[in-house]
Amino acid sequence: MNESIYGAWKDALPQVLHSLVSQIEDFSEKRKEETGEAAYEHLIYRIKSEESMRDKCRRKNLPETPSSALYDIHDAIGIRIVCCFLNDIYENIDFIRSLPGCTIVKGKDYIKNAKPNGYRSYHLIARLEAPLEDVKGNNPGHFFVEIQLRTIAMDSWASLEHQMKYKKNIKNPEMITRELKRCADELASCDLSMQTIRNLIRQEH
Ligand code: GTP
Ligand code: MG
Repeated sequence: MNESIYGAWKDALPQVLHSLVSQIEDFSEKRKEETGEAAYEHLIYRIKSEESMRDKCRRKNLPETPSSALYDIHDAIGIRIVCCFLNDIYENIDFIRSLPGCTIVKGKDYIKNAKPNGYRSYHLIARLEAPLEDVKGNNPGHFFVEIQLRTIAMDSWASLEHQMKYKKNIKNPEMITRELKRCADELASCDLSMQTIRNLIRQEH
């Protein structure tokens, strides 16, 4: 059997992932008890497959080593938090930021600055401290996690756009691109309206 690209850290990755996921789940559970509303609609997570990680190393001209996979590349561990409302995204970010041993090393707000194709999400790279030696010999070690935060509307657009990306031989690609962008912008406008409606309902209590 081939050696894992994650080397001796193969089993550490799910541990780091589950520890962070549990903390985010607890936060949402607690908020639900306090306010009646969870902090997100659902979340998904994964360890990047061997194959995708090796592909990414090759694309980036990096050697296929644990050091590339865990230090140069930051999305071996990935979490996607799908929220009902825009404000929930920023509440989850504040919570993640506040966690002991967690440093946000990169933040990309594709909500305020959507990609030209209309893609929206907030992307964070967090560096987590864990009580084991990392690939650079630090102990406690540092592990990177990519966290994507989106609304349900942004998530549905991204799923459909992702599916259609792989369809080749489209007759009128410019028109398709323009229409996808228009849908993304309409959904963004709905997200703003939904947030406003939620704020109005809350004021009535
Ligand atoms: P990588 O090195 O590939 O991670 O690129 P990057 O650092 O520029 O990452 P980026 O911030 O563009 O985000 C990468 C991830 O965000 C992808 O794996 C997708 O999950 C998601 N993503 C980014 N852009 C798009 C897009 O246009 N459409 C969809 N559907 N997903 C996107
Ligand atoms: Mg990425």
